[in-house]
Amino acid sequence: MAAWIIFTIGLLSIWQVGCIHAREWVAPAMALYLIHRLANDPDARQELDGVDWYILPVVNPDGYEYTRTSRSNRLWRKTRSKNNLLGCFGVDGNRNYGFKWAVSGVSSNPCDTETYAGPKPFSEVETVMVRNIMMENSKRLKLYVSLHSYGQYLVYPWGYTGDYLPKEWKKLDSLAREVSDAVQRAGGKPFKVLSAGKWYPAAGGSDDFAFGVVGVPYSYTMELTDGYEFIYPERLLRVVLPQFYEGFKAFAGQIRKEFSPKFTEQRYRMNECENC
Ligand code: ARG
Ligand code: ZN
Repeated sequence: MAAWIIFTIGLLSIWQVGCIHAREWVAPAMALYLIHRLANDPDARQELDGVDWYILPVVNPDGYEYTRTSRSNRLWRKTRSKNNLLGCFGVDGNRNYGFKWAVSGVSSNPCDTETYAGPKPFSEVETVMVRNIMMENSKRLKLYVSLHSYGQYLVYPWGYTGDYLPKEWKKLDSLAREVSDAVQRAGGKPFKVLSAGKWYPAAGGSDDFAFGVVGVPYSYTMELTDGYEFIYPERLLRVVLPQFYEGFKAFAGQIRKEFSPKFTEQRYRMNECENC
């Protein structure tokens, strides 16, 4: 079972999911660190005010477990569903969402170990689960972040094409740059910010689905860490996770500022006072 943590204060929500790709162990570590800080740090009250955080550390628990069973399975990426015809396992969860499904950057071979898109959109229980929760909360969801590794990229829709951008791309781009700046101020490396499809086109990702179907105004894929590829040294986590945390604070700040009625009201009242 995947773990769930839900913060319920206020009206808006931010959602982060990690580890759709089994071998990307930094993603669940980041999600757990976020939970740790939000739950224990007295300063995090500010981060929780007016915003609900939904954090799902492991979207693909069977795949994750499989990467832990032996060294030779450490680099498994997909789910572990069985394809009965060929005896091959798994679908790339980040090619399985039902928006522009399979139009680019996918394999149609079930035995492809990387980017098999599945027999149909939402063929996997993992992607169905994420889709259902997104749909149930669609009105409240303002930010969606899919956590991956590696490469230190912060990318936004569209992912299925690099030929054009959504009309809102400037907002997506500028918030990503603010997040990257915050991480850099904390001593971290900056993120490469661009549209996912300009990096490389790949359809059926959760970020495009969140943005294009659910209507989440800010949707991102975050590729954590630079260097070491999928086997990031544990000892460096205590350095980079707190740096990334500053980026999440920047995300939350923007969501609060832009959408929280409480904060809009407060600003309104303050203005009134200035006028008195
Ligand atoms: N590395 C991830 C993947 O391949 C993220 C992809 C981001 N989207 C994209 N269209 N490039 O699933
Ligand atoms: Zn990934």
